[in-house]
This record gives sequence, structure tokens and C-alpha cells, in this order.
Amino acid sequence: MASLTVRQLDDTLKRLLRLRAARHGRSMEDEVRVILRQAADEAGRDILDPSKPPAQSERQAKHDVTTARPRILLIIGGGIAAYKSLDLIRRLQDRGAQVRCILSGAAGHFVTPLAVGALCGERAYTDLFEPQSEFDVGHIRLARDTDLVVVAPATADLLAKMAGGHADDLATAVLLATNKPILVAPAMNPQMWSAKATQRNLAQLTADGIRVVGPNVGEMAERGEAGIGRMAEPLEIAAAVAAMTCRTGVLSGKRVLVTSGPTSEPIDPVRFIANRSSGKQGHAIASAAAAAGAHVVLVSGPANLPDPPGVSVVKIETAQQMLNAVEKAMPVDVAVFAAAVADWRPQHASESKIKKQPGRTPTLTLVENPDILSTVAHRETDRPQLVIGFAAETDHLVANARAKLAKKGCDWILANDVSPATGIMGGDTNTIHLISARGEESWPPQSKDEVARMLIERIVAALAGSER
Ligand SMILES: Cc1cc2nc3c(=O)[nH]c(=O)nc-3n(C[C@H](O)[C@H](O)[C@H](O)COP(=O)(O)O)c2cc1C
Repeated sequence: MASLTVRQLDDTLKRLLRLRAARHGRSMEDEVRVILRQAADEAGRDILDPSKPPAQSERQAKHDVTTARPRILLIIGGGIAAYKSLDLIRRLQDRGAQVRCILSGAAGHFVTPLAVGALCGERAYTDLFEPQSEFDVGHIRLARDTDLVVVAPATADLLAKMAGGHADDLATAVLLATNKPILVAPAMNPQMWSAKATQRNLAQLTADGIRVVGPNVGEMAERGEAGIGRMAEPLEIAAAVAAMTCRTGVLSGKRVLVTSGPTSEPIDPVRFIANRSSGKQGHAIASAAAAAGAHVVLVSGPANLPDPPGVSVVKIETAQQMLNAVEKAMPVDVAVFAAAVADWRPQHASESKIKKQPGRTPTLTLVENPDILSTVAHRETDRPQLVIGFAAETDHLVANARAKLAKKGCDWILANDVSPATGIMGGDTNTIHLISARGEESWPPQSKDEVARMLIERIVAALAGSER
């Protein structure tokens, strides 16, 4: 068999290979081996099997449903949440992204360049003044050779340096030099987060067009501390990245409306009727639709969740307000009603707090709320092409969902069993049965993000085939 040597490559290829090898600190031969290995990984191992036709890797195929392959430059800051960035690398790769990493000055105290580099499949960058990377001003190339820069965790210190335009290390120099969008995922102690300086820096960064995901409310790494400051979960950050990098999404040009969360029906200024819906499923669907390139309006009841990036969020409280917001968002191509809308509301909401009186129990008279799903499904003009409802049932799941499909006039019902034992209400997983005029599909138990992605795939297929 004839062998190919580096010497036989043409001059341009040789020059590029030399640059790449020097940047990675490898010999040119080793660099070729790495390139071949990466190509085999990306195309699936089958590329090396002569008996098999070219095939896409599973990761790549999954990703192609929504976007072209994005390149992400992940800057890991020096905070305790840096360990979650290792998971974030995986989550981004699962969505087909190519991830390259920079560790900030302090990040190396929390995660090692070795672990980060092993996950990325290429070395992690740490040093601005490293001759091997900088002989051709590598930090400018790092800053430009990407589709999006993500800072996670974004420490208070990094946010301050970004807001002030500092550039005294690799992370900050790249952040200042980039011409690409930036997404930050702040993570810090609640006191640091609420400090006036941090909030000032954040306001400056937002005004500069930098996007923010999180932070969330919850327990801190410090024992006994809780509050706002936890870094957004890797899946939330990955969804934000997907929304920001979607260039030719399969739903681009489509308008999608999603409702989410509970409604809250006032009894008086301090009391209300609500339910246990967390909004996680509706928000995940809005995120996935945005990641697929749709223009998404999310009408949400009170939910303790961050706004999904790239989505227009309308916050409401009552069912009537939800209906008004939904009608205002029309016309849309697809409407997904995932909110748990209260069936009834108190007939009269007292303007002042109802006082407790000895021996007297107030009587609440309830009246029916508008049926938002049915109203939209029966619109005579500009009915969405696909109207999708949810059925939260505790008994006779499929039979009740099928009856709901007929009664409401919608196209699909996603039925889920919300008996307390399932943990679906408020939990992170869901088990869905999709009921339509064409039949019934049972989906496996999976995360609400996976459910959202599967639903978007079904929507894309239905719109393409004009079938419901
Ligand atoms: C154990 C430990 C945990 C820390 N966690 C955080 C954190 O979660 N968020 C933060 O903003 N700073 C945190 N700090 C402080 C940062 O490490 C410090 O401000 C550092 O200069 C930030 O560097 P960077 O700009 O490279 O991110 C922590 C420090 C220590 C010692």
C-alpha cells in the first residue's frame, strides 16, 4: 500500500498543518493522527469500516434536527460551580456543538486543564502569554473562531472585569476581542450577587448586549447558605446556547405560542387559588422551539423559573389574563397549551383582605374560567395549523385524554399521569402519551427537555407533511 507522508501535502495544507500543530504543541504527524481520529469520531466509527456506507454519528444526527453545528468557546471562571462546567461541555456536545475551553486565572483551582481538555478533545487554553499559542496572536483567533462565547461560571470578578473592559489575562482579553455574541451564567454567593457593584456591572453588561442565563435560587456550596446565586443548570445553559446559535433552524420563520405554569385566581389581595404546576415542561418546550429557530411567545403564569433565552415572555396571573395574552399573540403557526389553567375562579375577588370572624366561615362561590385551548382550537379565522393541549390526569389517562381531544377540538393531546406517586408535577421527568386522530404513541419516561425536543420533532414532521 502506498503511504502518504506530510512532505507530499501541498504547500498551503502544509502551512496550515504546521500552524495547527504548533498551536497544539504536537508534531505535524501527531496532528494528522488527531485530525483523522476527530473526523472518524464526528462521522461515526463506521467511516473506517469499508463495508458500511457513510453514516452520521448519533450526536450529529440528533443535532441536525434543529441547527447547523455551532462552535462554542466556553470560558470557565474561578468559582465553585466550575465542576458543573464539565457536565456543560458534555451537554453542549450532545447537542452537536464543538466546544473549546479557556480557564480563567482562578478556574484552575477548581477544575484541571487536563479534565477539561480530555472532555473537549483538545487542549484547554489558560495562558495569554504562552509562546506556543501566541506566536500568531492566538487569543484573537480564539476570540473570533467561534459562534458564541459562553462564560460559565461567570464569577463576580469576571463580570466586573468584563464590565470594565479589562484584558489582563486570556479569558478577559478574548472576551474583549471577540466579535461574537456572549452568554454569561453568573454563579456566586447571594450576598455577592446582590452587592450593588455586581448589579451595576450586570446592568452594564446587559446594556452592552451580553445575554444572561440564571442565576437560580437554591442552596449554596457554603453550608447553610441559600438564596439567589446558583449557576443555571447545564441543561438550561445548553438550551440558552441552542437558542442563541440557531441559524437555520427547522422552525425558522414559524411562530409558536406556548403557555406554561399555573394560573393564580385571587380570593382577596393576599389569598389565591393555584395548583402545583412548576412550568418546567412548558418552559422547556418554549426553549426547544426557540432552539429550532421559531419565533416563540411564552405566556406564563407565576413560575419560579428563569425566562428561556430568545423567547418573548408575557407574564400573567389569571386564566382570563392568559386568554387575553394568547389572543394578542395570534396569529401563530403552532400553539402548545402546557399551562395548568385553573378551571374555576372565585366569582368575586375581595378588594380588601377578608377578616377572620369567630364562628363564621366565608363561602366561596366559584365560576368557570374561559377554556383557552378550546377557544383557540375553534377559532374560525387564523386557527393555528397545529393546536396541542396537555391532559394532566390521575385516572383513566388515555380514555380521558381521547375524550378531551374530541371535546376541545385540538389536534393533539399530550397526556401525562400526574398522580403524586409519579412525581411528574414539579419534577424533572415526564411520561407522555401523544393522542391524535391518527392514533396513540407512548413515549418513554424521560426528562422534560427530552420531551420538549421530541415534541418539536413531531411538530416539524407534521408541518412538513401538513398532517395532524
Ligand atoms: C472556595 C472558593 C469558592 C469561590 N466561589 C466563588 C463563586 O462561586 N463565585 C464567585 O464569583 N467567586 C467565587 N470565589 C472567589 C473567586 O475565586 C475570586 O474572586 C477569583 O478572583 C475569581 O477569578 P476569575 O476572575 O478567574 O473567575 C471563590 C473563592 C474560593 C476560594
